[in-house]
Amino acid sequence: MENIKFCFPGKVVVITGAAAGLGRAMALQFAKAGANVAICDLKEELATETAKLCEAEGVKAKFYKLNITDEEMAASVKDAILADFGTVDILVNNAGVTTAPGKMGPPMANIDIADWKRLIGINLIGTVTVTKAFAPIFKEKKQGKIVNISSQTAYNVTVSMPHYCASKLAIVSYTQSCSVELGKYNVNVNAVCPGYIYTPIYHGAGDELISKFPALLGDCKSEEEVVTKLAAVSTSLGRPEKPEDIAYCVLFLASDAASEITGNAVIVDSGGVRR
Ligand SMILES: NC(=O)c1ccc[n+]([C@@H]2O[C@H](COP(=O)([O-])OP(=O)(O)OC[C@H]3O[C@@H](n4cnc5c(N)ncnc54)[C@H](O)[C@@H]3O)[C@@H](O)[C@H]2O)c1
Repeated sequence: MENIKFCFPGKVVVITGAAAGLGRAMALQFAKAGANVAICDLKEELATETAKLCEAEGVKAKFYKLNITDEEMAASVKDAILADFGTVDILVNNAGVTTAPGKMGPPMANIDIADWKRLIGINLIGTVTVTKAFAPIFKEKKQGKIVNISSQTAYNVTVSMPHYCASKLAIVSYTQSCSVELGKYNVNVNAVCPGYIYTPIYHGAGDELISKFPALLGDCKSEEEVVTKLAAVSTSLGRPEKPEDIAYCVLFLASDAASEITGNAVIVDSGGVRR
């Protein structure tokens, strides 16, 4: 990977859900590329740790407590970031959740309406809420990049979490709508669809997945093994991605090299989705 270089000197990047997992990897890669990073999450301790790791790369980084579903909070976090950083150049809508414990399908009847509302409220409406808060900055500057994190499950549905799949396909649709409106203002809006990456999103889901799919996952001894097995049986490359693999695609889409790419959903999933 030594020959892949991204440069964002002095650019300001806002990343939601950057306390851990993919968001932390994105924050670190942006920091290594010289960007200043606003780390937005609910989890103060872990997100502050991400900010410290970014600062160690010699850039400015700060944690902002944000619940992406809270419109007022999104507006005040936006104001605070503008006061601290002066502007925003890139927004990555990464925060997301999966099915609640004990609410996994099949059958779909296991997933109650409350969990549909919770999940769609965070993954889809949360992405919309944060975009609505920050898009006016880009419109005024006539410049900006938005990258929304979808999932390969937007295209390869899984019966274990139809609400998650629906939320992620909706993010692709919303990405396209935004790209049409914001394109007039020289703003690029794209989505990235990750495949299988072992992150905290899988914490607590291993046993439930094993019990739902015993023939496939019965011999897995850990949650990480579950993720590795799922990727092994469903992708061309036969392996999961690393958080950095997703981050590299996000940085590419946020870079000038991707100036003419908009309204797209780039699948980074080791070859699971074949379209
Ligand atoms: N890990 C994977 O295999 C995978 C695959 C496809 C897509 N994704 C997507 O990538 C994104 C990141 O996932 P991850 O694997 O790093 O998960 P993760 O659980 O490690 O990180 C998600 C982060 O989002 C934060 N978050 C959740 N709800 C929030 C809210 N309401 N407001 C603010 N922050 C909130 C969490 O605190 C957490 O830090 C998610 O959108 C997820 O759906 C992940």
